[in-house]
Amino acid sequence: MATHAQASDPSAGQHSRGHFTSRRVFILAAIGSAVGLGNIWRFPYVAYENGGGAFLIPYLVALLVAGLPFLLLDYGIGHRYRGSAPLSFRRLGGATAETLGWWQVGICAVIAIYYAVIIAWAVRYTFFSIDESWGSAPDEFLFGDFLQVAEPGIGLDFVGGVFWPLLLVWLAVIAVMVAGVQRGIGALAAVFIPLLVVAFLALVIRSLFLPGALDGLDALFAPNWGALTNAGVWAAAFGQIFFSLSIGFGIMITYASYVGRKTDMTGSGLVVGLANSSFELLAGIGVFAALGFMAQASGVAIDEVATEGLGLAFIAFPAIISEAPAGALIGVLFFGSLVVAGLTSLISVIEVVISAVRDKLDLSRTTASLVVGVPAATASLLLFATTTGVPLLDTADHFINRFGILLVAVVSMLAVTWVYRDLDHLRDHLNRTGSVPLGSWWLALVGVVTPAALVYVLIEELRGVLAEPYEGYPAWLINGVGWGSAALVLVLAIVLARLPWRRTVDLTAPTEEVSR
Ligand code: ALA
Repeated sequence: MATHAQASDPSAGQHSRGHFTSRRVFILAAIGSAVGLGNIWRFPYVAYENGGGAFLIPYLVALLVAGLPFLLLDYGIGHRYRGSAPLSFRRLGGATAETLGWWQVGICAVIAIYYAVIIAWAVRYTFFSIDESWGSAPDEFLFGDFLQVAEPGIGLDFVGGVFWPLLLVWLAVIAVMVAGVQRGIGALAAVFIPLLVVAFLALVIRSLFLPGALDGLDALFAPNWGALTNAGVWAAAFGQIFFSLSIGFGIMITYASYVGRKTDMTGSGLVVGLANSSFELLAGIGVFAALGFMAQASGVAIDEVATEGLGLAFIAFPAIISEAPAGALIGVLFFGSLVVAGLTSLISVIEVVISAVRDKLDLSRTTASLVVGVPAATASLLLFATTTGVPLLDTADHFINRFGILLVAVVSMLAVTWVYRDLDHLRDHLNRTGSVPLGSWWLALVGVVTPAALVYVLIEELRGVLAEPYEGYPAWLINGVGWGSAALVLVLAIVLARLPWRRTVDLTAPTEEVSR
């Protein structure tokens, strides 16, 4: 096939945006973004709570119907329009479309400031594992000695044990961001992802040889078919896929904008999507094998040891570490994996914000990293390294996932398809260099099926949240932090999209295409 002349570079005249030097580095960075706390910390419990083995059906449906098609949509937008989320949407559809990009940027800003906190906890627990600092009561240690949790509303006193590791996490993140796309993000992923795979495989194999491991797997995979008729189970599957694949909140648009024009994006998308889900299943197996051991050792049912995300990682695992032979090794592997997986995801989340600010103001990489990183670190430390950090984090996480990520995903899918009518162009663009041809089935999935499924999921979620306050938290927390953060990012997006761009930034869509 003939190769066209080089396409004109719409970013000429700007500060260099940076790029990944090869498809391999891009894939590693994208897997690094996808595989994160969502896989290790959230998936095992979500699967267990929502039908066990039967959950795999909505999960696979969500992956195939919504996850992979949407991942390719994100890739298409970033790769064709070659900008951060706001710049890509601006080039795609003008000033109003730019709002969608800023909405995604706002969601990332919220996620980044609490996501870093969990990594900081995991850093501490990697060291706590060595001498089992939690003693015989991991729950009292977590909420008392370590987090010093106060009742919501009681106080915002600093917790030193969280403050210092959190500061360290942010310093590391800012250093990676300053180093740049290839030398920072790409290099980190190239080292950390193989390390993560080795550490996590070792953990899973060790867990599978613990007595009682098979009972744990049985509990995880025993199907509760009745769960399939529950809308909440489907909502959980879609929510899990979007968060876990890092789609719908600008990450994959941003990363795809750093990839060479001739890169096979559809094939890369399949590799990333399947790697992410494989890791998720592996995490489910490892975590439940360990829980099976714990249940047997303490003579209780699995449901008494399987707790929600926070309790699972920071209470159940410490208990397992105390009981199991070579427990310290399990601890270092588990919490070390959380740190590594979390860091490669956190940098992708914060990169969405940095690249948007860089594009809009045409800043150098170092300036933008500091302009974004320092306030984000400050907010993270002021809000979450405190005695009220836990309920704040839990509420922000729940609302921004459901009424941030899923909502912006559905609005952007509908806008790209029906308002800006760009889906055909994006499909042609992806097909020009992609190894997996996208047919009309992709148009139907992205333009009709997935939005319809998401609208249904969102309505069900809304009904649930309105019927009873999330986790029974007080109104100031639900309204102020939950709804407040979800609404604030939207309002800010509308305002930011109206601010002028630096004159050096080319806002026109690239016209020429490169074929293989
Ligand atoms: N995709 C990332 C995770 O699963 C954000 O944690």
